[in-house]
Amino acid sequence: MVAESLPSRPGRHRVVTTELDFPTLLYQWRVKPEMEVVVLPSSDGVGIDLDQYREAVDDRTAVVATSHVFFATGFVQDAAAIAGIARDAGAVSVIDGYQSVGQIPVDVESVGADAYTTGPLKWLCGGPGLSYLHVRPERIDEWEPRITSWFAAADQFDFDPHDFRFRDDARRFELGTPPLPTIHTSLGGQEILSEVGIERVAARNRALTERVVGGCRDAGFDLRIADEPRRSAIVMIRHPDPPGAVDALDRDDIIVDHRPGHVRVSPHVYNTDDEIDRFVEALARTL
Ligand SMILES: Cc1ncc(COP(=O)(O)O)c(C=O)c1O
Repeated sequence: MVAESLPSRPGRHRVVTTELDFPTLLYQWRVKPEMEVVVLPSSDGVGIDLDQYREAVDDRTAVVATSHVFFATGFVQDAAAIAGIARDAGAVSVIDGYQSVGQIPVDVESVGADAYTTGPLKWLCGGPGLSYLHVRPERIDEWEPRITSWFAAADQFDFDPHDFRFRDDARRFELGTPPLPTIHTSLGGQEILSEVGIERVAARNRALTERVVGGCRDAGFDLRIADEPRRSAIVMIRHPDPPGAVDALDRDDIIVDHRPGHVRVSPHVYNTDDEIDRFVEALARTL
């Protein structure tokens, strides 16, 4: 939606992103022949240095698009600093918060990105099919989506075939009828997390993560994770056969995932210490 909303600006045809970002963020620019995609490499395979953004973002940059937390390393980026680098260069910042919201406290106002997006399918425990977008109020008027539908119309219930005007607020980025069952499911997840409180969720997840990290290291596994304070509850464990390990763990009722070369475990607030220990033991058996 954001990619289809930005006004075109002569001379600004670059999108700066990183090799650690999720394809959703990258592919939408790749299919736009008028855009040049600059992919920042990661020197340690875990994170990106802020200086890399400083060097790459300039007056040719239309958009800086990256994640708050990287999906395959758990590295927590300084999203406010990245948004600042984009702003200083006159570029738009788009932050993908799919792996941050629900596991760490996020204040979209203080991040200050032009667009901050997330969804309930991961840490918000609400399932797939819905996406949330926060647009900085100053940008709302400037951005007119080139894909739209009747929920974005200021006079939605006039059903006027002759005229269309965008809503004044962020609801101009809505499309058609929203998936109500999905919304109810996602509200359920959010209510549970709100009841616990995001600070307590984050503290508990830190403790669970340290238990995973300690247990895996004791068992001799090599990990691909960030150091504090950039670490989050996504732990990548190097494994010779990640899909095989995930299947074996599944047979033990342990649900984790795999990404190239690694088993990915993402403990969340509802997990117990015993479950973490059981996971480490079961993973060790897969070798
Ligand atoms: C960082 C990140 N962004 C986005 C998504 C999901 O995007 P989509 O809704 O396009 O499947 C994921 C994972 O599925 C992710 O890890």
